[in-house]
Amino acid sequence: MRVLVTGATGRLGRVAVPRLRDEGFTLRAMSRRPRTGDGVEWVTADLATGAGLAEAVAGMDAVLHLASSPNRRTHDIDVLGTRRLAVAAGHAGVRHLVFVSIVGVDRVPLGYYRHKLAAEQVVAAGPVPWSVLRATQFPEFLAGLLSGASRLGPLVGDRAVLAQPVDSGEVADRLAVLLLAGPSNRVEDFGGPEVLRFDEAARAWLAARRVRRPLLPVRIPGRLGRELRAGGLTTTATPAGTRTWADYLADTYGGTGGR
Ligand SMILES: NC(=O)c1ccc[n+]([C@@H]2O[C@H](COP(=O)([O-])OP(=O)(O)OC[C@H]3O[C@@H](n4cnc5c(N)ncnc54)[C@H](OP(=O)(O)O)[C@@H]3O)[C@@H](O)[C@H]2O)c1
Repeated sequence: MRVLVTGATGRLGRVAVPRLRDEGFTLRAMSRRPRTGDGVEWVTADLATGAGLAEAVAGMDAVLHLASSPNRRTHDIDVLGTRRLAVAAGHAGVRHLVFVSIVGVDRVPLGYYRHKLAAEQVVAAGPVPWSVLRATQFPEFLAGLLSGASRLGPLVGDRAVLAQPVDSGEVADRLAVLLLAGPSNRVEDFGGPEVLRFDEAARAWLAARRVRRPLLPVRIPGRLGRELRAGGLTTTATPAGTRTWADYLADTYGGTGGR
């Protein structure tokens, strides 16, 4: 199966490309900048302008759409860019568009999530048969949040927010299964093996890095806080990933990761 991977240089893309390649998919990897390597063909295209998209999708059986821009021009890139991609793929006769979204996009009132939900709707209304997989947070994302939350000294956060980190490699494996299954529309969400409170995740992260920091509790106000504390970012769907937060911490910082 010939598959275009958008966002191939991103956190998930960097893991998915070698895994899918090794499973026998013929990959074309997309980036805004010219690249080579990883034993796959690279193509340059930009979702914000549409430049290069027709060439990128030409001759592909499927598109695995991982590209996203959470922090800038999100509407242009995630919503309109997804539409540009879907239209180009439709013209090229692509038979399956697989889109990765996030658990909670329809629940948690964040600007980025509104755009992800709109992009899901673009995929569903588009010309190419589709699958959408919502995943929970990657542990690297949670670690980045914790880093940001402790930049000024104490680790500041809402202790009761619930998270469910999922290994990006396990998400990539799930995506391989979806590619082989063919268009399935919205499939079961995919989360990590455990739901953690923010303070539990933070303590394990500090211990793994052998850093001592006081936890300074704040309460995220309003509906955002309520949804985050009520598990808006989590799922009970099965199957789920098996790699835990402690596994990630052990791999990243050594030691036992607090196990
Ligand atoms: N991070 C999480 O915890 C998480 C959890 C669940 C689901 N997801 C979803 O999983 C997907 C991958 O996330 P990620 O964390 O791997 O993303 P990421 O690391 O932020 O990577 C974003 C990718 O998007 C590409 N991109 C950005 N702007 C572009 C544009 N204008 N045209 C073409 N490509 C563009 C970048 O490619 P170049 O810079 O090479 O052009 C990069 O490869 C996203 O859809 C995200 O919403 C993420």
